[in-house]
Amino acid sequence: MTTKPAVLFVCLGNICRSPLAEAAFRKAADEADLNVEADSAGTAAYHVGAPPDPRSIATAAKNGVDIAHCQGRQIEHADFTRFTHIFAMDHSNLKNIRTVAPSDATAKITLLLDAVPGREGAEIADPYYDGEENFAYTWEDAWMAAQAIIRKLQTK
Ligand code: 4NP
Repeated sequence: MTTKPAVLFVCLGNICRSPLAEAAFRKAADEADLNVEADSAGTAAYHVGAPPDPRSIATAAKNGVDIAHCQGRQIEHADFTRFTHIFAMDHSNLKNIRTVAPSDATAKITLLLDAVPGREGAEIADPYYDGEENFAYTWEDAWMAAQAIIRKLQTK
């Protein structure tokens, strides 16, 4: 039996980038008719229980995904065995995820853009202090990564 892919997207606050990355991945999986589990979380607890940033909600809506119901949460120990893959948006997230990883972690932990040939090591820029137009770039990067992850999962 193969394990169903279960993918967690992680940023700092879980209100801007990771909800968009999760939305892009759900959309790409739907289009590919691939059965996956997806969620997102933050390394920080600043926005636990809060909805995504309005600029992320608007950007997802423009791309056909409703994320208004999502609620921020902080990454927890169970995530490291519940998910097969954990994708960090930037190097700081990656470092913080590795710091809190329990010793029995089984998830593969990488940067999100490592999935995109030619973008390995690159970060999903934090748009929190920018205008809504920057969230469109976040979506473009997340969408490219989502499609690349789906392609990899399909060849497994
Ligand atoms: P995110 O963006 O990590 O993409 O959700 C941020 C959200 C909140 C803060 C920083 C970045 N903050 O400082 O509250």
